[in-house]
Amino acid sequence: MNLKFQTPTGMHDLFQEEWDYFDKVKKACSHMADSYEFTRIETPILEDTAIFEKGTGANTDIVEKEMYSLTSKGGDRLTLRPEGTPGVVRSYIQNGMQNQPKPVKLWYFGPFFRHERPQAGRFRQFHQFGFESLGVADPIIDAEIIQIFYNILKELGFKNLLVEINSTGDSQCKANYRKALMGYLRSRQTGLCTDCKRRIKKNPLRILDCKEEKCQRIKKGAPQIVDHLCKECHDHFKNLLEFLDEKGLPYNLNPYLVRGLDYYTKTVFEIYEDTEDGKQIGALAGGGRYDDLVKMLGGKPTPACGAAAGVERIAAILKQRMKRPISKEKITEVFLAQVGEIAKKKSLKLFEEFREAGVKVGEALHKDSLSAQLKIADRLDVKFVLILGQKEAIDEQVIIREMKTGNQDVVDLKKAVNEIKKRLKKSI
Ligand code: HAM
Repeated sequence: MNLKFQTPTGMHDLFQEEWDYFDKVKKACSHMADSYEFTRIETPILEDTAIFEKGTGANTDIVEKEMYSLTSKGGDRLTLRPEGTPGVVRSYIQNGMQNQPKPVKLWYFGPFFRHERPQAGRFRQFHQFGFESLGVADPIIDAEIIQIFYNILKELGFKNLLVEINSTGDSQCKANYRKALMGYLRSRQTGLCTDCKRRIKKNPLRILDCKEEKCQRIKKGAPQIVDHLCKECHDHFKNLLEFLDEKGLPYNLNPYLVRGLDYYTKTVFEIYEDTEDGKQIGALAGGGRYDDLVKMLGGKPTPACGAAAGVERIAAILKQRMKRPISKEKITEVFLAQVGEIAKKKSLKLFEEFREAGVKVGEALHKDSLSAQLKIADRLDVKFVLILGQKEAIDEQVIIREMKTGNQDVVDLKKAVNEIKKRLKKSI
């Protein structure tokens, strides 16, 4: 039998090089989380299917087509999380965070799953980082969320960032707009794609998000939601834009931005890189306000706002533009070479002593030939090689060779760690 197992379609093995870029992204998130006082949360990868049906929305693409759902052996209906917000809200309610001082600020970084058609920047297992701020209705929070995502991307070296923004109003404004939009779309039904024909009745706002060219054309003349906002939603949006102006954050009003998740109220936004490549890859980040979601999932009415970004999309761009970011701890500083049985045995302890002292030592203890070991040391580009030969091992000594100059000194084995630290200018 010729077995050829492969990763499932749209899913990938992630190797060290990818993780080096992912770690860079995570570091920028963690740094921003500390600055804005968000604390880390990691919700389970499997959640009750109903939280996505109720939260993300039964008529969204995610729930209709993209969820990996299963029934457990115990009969529970569970789903691999397709997005982070409903899980965070579930945790907020379950853990009594409603009683904590507001806003409750949480951030996460981890894998998500959507059964989408794989294409550039779109996978079936991908990673997101997200920031959620729960408990405050003021648009100053929306501005803070947008700023955080803008800052993270800027810190990672993104320059031409474009923030697209809109307000979808509260549930009442949305209902009024829905009616107006349905009226407009019904008269143009024949020109829409098959999916959108079906959407007119169930979820007409999703038509504004359709990528089909004919639907895009029809969208251009459609009524705009900003004209259907009540005074409160209108003022909320106006204040948010004033805050963004004050911060000097560039944005673009997009009257047809609705986003594909049902829970949004008022603010919605997406951040793109404003280049040809960037537009092809799609939104780097997206989010908005979700003032009804906590109540929808069984909690007390609680305003909230948040966003999430796609790590693969960001990492792919970083990979094209910057050298692989290798953290200092991974850089080998010294190489330990040994010749002979006694030396090999003594090297075991010496290696551990260096490790405990925080010096990154390379080794090839499985090799006996000195020249083979020195070749590896050369490749690792270390500053110093420690050579422990048969004679040195018996005399409790070791040779330190400076690779650049070829100079060699013999030092007591016991003093080797401190001597190397001194030479590397590390604190002892
Ligand atoms: P979303 O727009 O569905 O929002 O996803 C956020 C980001 O995740 C996208 O902008 C994109 O960068 C990335 N992403 C989404 N799907 C994929 C995929 N299949 N492959 C690769 N990357 C992908 C949410 O998930 C909301 N929970 C955001 C939010 C948080 N709203 C409020 N709080």
